[in-house]
Amino acid sequence: MIKKCLFPVAGYGTRFLPATKAMPKEILPVLDKPLVQYGVEEAVEAGLTDIGFVTGRGKRAIEDHFDVSYELEHQIEGTGKEKMLEGIRRLINQCTFSYTRQINMRGLGDAILTGRTIIGDEPFGVVLADDLCFGDSEGVLAQMVRLYRQFRCSIVAIQEVPHANVSSYGIVEGEAISDRLVRVTNMVEKPKPEDAPSNLAIIGRYILTPDIFSIIESTPPGKNGEVQITDALLRQAQDGCVIAYRFRGRRFDCGNVDGYVEATNYCYENIYRKRSC
Ligand code: UTP
Repeated sequence: MIKKCLFPVAGYGTRFLPATKAMPKEILPVLDKPLVQYGVEEAVEAGLTDIGFVTGRGKRAIEDHFDVSYELEHQIEGTGKEKMLEGIRRLINQCTFSYTRQINMRGLGDAILTGRTIIGDEPFGVVLADDLCFGDSEGVLAQMVRLYRQFRCSIVAIQEVPHANVSSYGIVEGEAISDRLVRVTNMVEKPKPEDAPSNLAIIGRYILTPDIFSIIESTPPGKNGEVQITDALLRQAQDGCVIAYRFRGRRFDCGNVDGYVEATNYCYENIYRKRSC
């Protein structure tokens, strides 16, 4: 039912300079796999195989990653190393990839609006690939797609964060529907801890209904002069319904060095060592 997933990857990744000076943040590897590949795998697990990227200048490596590399593949053909490409080859066969460019990096809301040409008039997933998520028994996006079937409105993934850290996130407030579900009544982008309505932070996974595009169009720039998806979602929540979902699993903010190192250690212990056994 939901087939499309948008990856806004146009940001500059300034928190990871100088690594991101000439290389997209989303290509940073956690162990032997780029962040963006984890994100696409999560989308495919949720049944979303039409992958759309909102790219920007200097992001060509992402397009190349989801394409064949004739010379390299010819070079390792018939050797033991070929199996290292199995995962990415499978993804390339399962998915279609579309690209559009954000010209001025005016914020996540603007990046999502730029993706309208790929998405059209249907509900869609959004993955911010620098948030690396591992679901408990199924992927976070798959959990959210199931919720969408139930509620038929936009769903945002949230997690509790320490109060001192709320100013790094969009923060939600609302009426509890159950242990894990909140009907959103208020949202604030990057509030000061003393102004935050809660410590429930939006992370980089969304299911959005397509009316969000016209809402973003009429949403003025907000925090830091950027068009904020949080501001558009608040208007959607006020006019209809937005559900915040405390997902089952773990999330690492790989947009900064601490989270990236944590993710690497987690994957080394839980994926790499088990694979090598
Ligand atoms: P972030 O703020 O986490 O990414 O935006 P950033 O701007 O690349 O990183 P820093 O803060 O400078 O280190 C969240 C997501 O939204 C995308 C980013 O690529 C990232 O995936 N984004 C952000 C866009 O695509 N366009 C924008 O104008 C802003």
